[in-house]
Amino acid sequence: MAEQRLLPTVEDTEALGRELAAELRAGDLVVLDGPLGAGKTALTRGIAAGLGVQGRVSSPTFIIARQHRAGTQPGAVGMVHVDAYRLGGNLDELDALDLDTDLDESVVVVEWGHGVVEHLTDRHLLVRLRREPDSDIRTATWEWIAQPM
Ligand SMILES: Nc1ncnc2c1ncn2[C@@H]1O[C@H](COP(=O)(O)OP(=O)(O)O)[C@@H](O)[C@H]1O
Ligand SMILES: [Mg+2]
Repeated sequence: MAEQRLLPTVEDTEALGRELAAELRAGDLVVLDGPLGAGKTALTRGIAAGLGVQGRVSSPTFIIARQHRAGTQPGAVGMVHVDAYRLGGNLDELDALDLDTDLDESVVVVEWGHGVVEHLTDRHLLVRLRREPDSDIRTATWEWIAQPM
């Protein structure tokens, strides 16, 4: 069953990211869907904070993937933040990122990844973000989805 939450402010979106991070382990794939400005990067910032990874999360506009090293706390995992927008579904470029290797020791979060990266794992956390026009309010819907074999 998908869960849903109203996110009145950007802080609420980041807080949801921190909550979701508590359930994430190395090898987990998070796919973020929603239009420009929906809050995908803001949610990623919350996930990064929850995981305690190093480095500032920014919109990876000029780079496709950014590695965030694990923090120093026991059991810490790293995070790879991917913006698949400019991949345009190009699977060769996606292969070149070698996310399979990253998934051995990191959580991988992919903006614009819907329909592009799901094959990398046998299940993924799909988070959809919606925004109303001229409003700060966002709605998040999320669920774990098993990849059909
Ligand atoms: N409830 C909210 N959740 C997330 N972002 C919000 C919210 N309200 C306002 N914002 C603003 O909307 C923008 C979202 O940008 P960003 O997270 O980069 O979106 P995306 O990565 O989906 O393009 C930021 O400027 C943020 O401050
Ligand atoms: Mg973004």
